[in-house]
Formats: sequence, C-alpha cells, structure tokens
Amino acid sequence: MTDDSREDSKQRGGAGAGSLGSLGARHGVAFGTAVSEYALRDDGAYAPVLEREFTILVAENAMKMGPTYRGPKEWHFHGADRIADFARQHGKEMRGHTLLWHAMNPPWILHGDFSRKKLLDLAHDHIFEIVPRYRDVITAWDVVNEVVERTDGSLHDTFWLRGVGADHIDFAFRWVRQAAPDCKLFLNDWVGEGEGAPRQILHDYIREALDRKVPIDGVGLQMHLRIDDMPKFEDIETAFDRFEALGLEIHITELDIVLPMPATDEALEAQAQAYGEFARIARERKSVTALVVWGFTDKWSCHNSTPEPYENGLIFDRNYDPKPAYEAIRKAWR
Ligand code: G3I
Repeated sequence: MTDDSREDSKQRGGAGAGSLGSLGARHGVAFGTAVSEYALRDDGAYAPVLEREFTILVAENAMKMGPTYRGPKEWHFHGADRIADFARQHGKEMRGHTLLWHAMNPPWILHGDFSRKKLLDLAHDHIFEIVPRYRDVITAWDVVNEVVERTDGSLHDTFWLRGVGADHIDFAFRWVRQAAPDCKLFLNDWVGEGEGAPRQILHDYIREALDRKVPIDGVGLQMHLRIDDMPKFEDIETAFDRFEALGLEIHITELDIVLPMPATDEALEAQAQAYGEFARIARERKSVTALVVWGFTDKWSCHNSTPEPYENGLIFDRNYDPKPAYEAIRKAWR
C-alpha cells in the first residue's frame, strides 16, 4: 500500500473507497460490526468484506472475561489478538466488549466462593491486564453490559451485583479511566432503545452515576430487534433525545433486525427500511458517533444458534451478497 493510498485509507477509517464505512465516515459515523474469531479464522470470504466495509470492529465474544481470564493471573488472548491484529493491520479502530457482565464469566470465578474484596481484586486485575493490552486500537469500551433489570427498575441481578454490590459498576468505570485515560467509556444496554420504564430506568441510573462523578462518556444502545415487533422510531428518537440531554455520546452497538423464517420479500423490504432509518438517525444526530451491526452476514449470526425461528437479521446474506438493508444504508449515507 503506497503512502497516498495509506493516507486515503486512513481518511476512510480503514474502509474501502465507496464502502459503507467510507460513507459513514463522511457523516462522522464509525460504521462497524461484531467479529467472530472463528469466521475470521475459518471462512476465506469473511475477511475481505470486513476489510472493505467497516471502520470499527468489536470482538463478538473473544474479549469477554470467560474466553480471556482463565485463572488467577492467567489470561489467554489468542482469539482477541486475532481480531485486534486484523484491526491494526487494516487501520481500523475497535470497541472493547465487555469487561463486567452477567454472562460468559469464567467458571473458576463463578464457583470460587470469593469474598467481595477478592472479587474486586480479580476484576481490578482483569481490567488492568486487558485494557492496556489493546489501548492502541480500542477507542471505546463497553465497561459494563446490561446492568438494569428490564422490568422493575432495579439493577440486573448479576453475579457481580450479588458478589460485590452495586458499586462494582463505579469501580469498573474508574479503573478503566485509569488504565486508558484516552478511551471513551460506555455503559452498554438493551433496555434503552424504546419507550417506557426500562429506558427511563437506564437514563436515571446513568444520571445518578454521573452525579457521583462516575466517568461515563456514552451509552451503548444494542438494538437487537425483530421486524414484527419493532419499537416505534418516534420512541427510539425520544430515547436518543433523553440520553443526549445527559451529555452522552451514543453508540448503536449491536444492531440486527431478525425476520420470521422463511423470510419474505416484504419482510426484507421492511428490514431495509428500518436499517435505513437507523442510518438516517446516525447521520442526523451528532451525538451518534458509531453504528455497529452485530455481525454482517447471515451466515455467521448469533441468531442462527437459537431455537427461535427468527434469523437473517444482517446486511449481507449467507452468500455474502448485499441485501436490501445494505442498499438502504448506502442510500441514507450517499
Ligand atoms: O467458543 C465455544 C466453543 O469452544 C464451544 O465448542 C461452543 C459450544 O459449546 O460454544 C462456544 O462458545 C459460545 C460463544 O457464543 C462463541 O460461539 C457460547 O457457548 C455462546 O453462549 C456464545 O454466545 C454469545 C452470547 O453473546 C453469550 O456470550 C453470542 O455468540 C454473542 O453474539 C452474544 O452477544 C451478546 C452481547 O455480548 C451482549 N448483548 C447481547 C448479545 C446477543 O446475545
């Protein structure tokens, strides 16, 4: 790659000329995708699209605590490094996902019967091991994931809440700020995207945390959606208004819009319109600085392994051909 083309590529955040990533970059939106370390390793068709279309990558699973934190002072980063090295090689940023969560915790911690202090020490050790390791390529971390209970407004009853208390969240944000002062720190959740109590609960939790001077820079709104059960876009926009009013940066972090199978042309068209709406919102709102799809090809979607008959939620089909949803994003960003 010549110096000029390297500079051009940098201008486009590492995405190819004419790609969705380069179009998004023109509107100040980092366009990204979750990355499967298995697809990157085993599927030759995967990497060329990843290189061409996206400017920011997130490890779908490889940077979670379970796959990395294998024992006291023992970490395995082979899957995470595969993705981070690809990002480095192709001039892309990354989102870090995720440091503390209710799922994919290592069994030795889950079943270790550790005291509050010991659990805090383990979380501290993990944060100060993984965050510096990827400080050169990760520009935003999902410090904690899904902390609010969807129904009654309490905090999500997680292993870390039970073992440490509600302040595990504050500790985590403050430690990541120390470990990577120039990284944006996000609270990532799935309750903030529509209307009603769950969104208000997340909003109020973040406002109170900011009042405690917890260093939260942004909110990640996951957006795992079903085309036959979509929130109203006016409610989604109200949610964005409310989080913007807190001074937060917003990342759409896990967008997929699954279809009841077998997928019909009407459902694919409705899916395209919805993807186009999210791209419009990202283009119009300066607070929205990233739009990340949770995988990009239906061949490697997390929904393929669930028993429910909802799949095909992404922007390329199983043959890596662009779907109407891909064209709808292009139209919104051209
Ligand atoms: O890596 C192991 C493999 O060695 C083993 O053979 C196989 C069968 O047991 O399991 C593999 O691990 C699976 C992993 O995905 C990698 O494929 C886990 O069982 C499986 O639970 C895990 O599912 C992931 C899920 O988070 C739980 O961590 C999904 O791929 C991933 O898309 C999903 O992503 C979450 C976000 O992190 C948070 N928001 C919701 C979103 C969707 O659930």
